[in-house]
Amino acid sequence: MSLNDCFFNLSNFPNLDQKYIDEGLYSEYPDLTKFKPPFPNGKVPKIISIPSSFKETDFFKILEKHFGDISCVYIRNFPWSTYDWHCDILTNVNINFILHDNKNSLVLFRDRISEYSAIQYNIRQAVYCPFKPTILNTQVQHCVINLNDDHRYILNLGFLNKSVSYQDVKEFLTNFAVFDSY
Ligand SMILES: [Fe+2]
Repeated sequence: MSLNDCFFNLSNFPNLDQKYIDEGLYSEYPDLTKFKPPFPNGKVPKIISIPSSFKETDFFKILEKHFGDISCVYIRNFPWSTYDWHCDILTNVNINFILHDNKNSLVLFRDRISEYSAIQYNIRQAVYCPFKPTILNTQVQHCVINLNDDHRYILNLGFLNKSVSYQDVKEFLTNFAVFDSY
């Protein structure tokens, strides 16, 4: 695991089509503050997400054909909120598109400064290009801090096949033929 290569911006890829940006920004999301037990599978939900029709794009179908099952959702974070440090349980690699130019939303990766120091970490900020895909190594600890009066919205693709790594997806997409639209 390395902070030097924990995310990769596909800045040469096309912008996300406006219809998916609008779908992510303006659809109705479940209200986390109103969640009450009993929860599905007896677990308190961690993320507010809704399905995305980006699943219907040729690009998504190519990815799924090559890498197996991929989840496809919009995720919303509250204003002035943190999504705490974690490694993803279900995936090794994700692709995120941020749906707006939210300068004060931080995605940070961290790695212990030394295995003998329990609470000191190096950190690195994953800088997103709005509307472009960013590949993330979700096996490096990361968090999201939304220092903003507005919600934060992303389109999130999660590679559910656990034999697929960050490097696999990065290699596939950095060699991907140029295209105009997803
Ligand atoms: Fe995560």
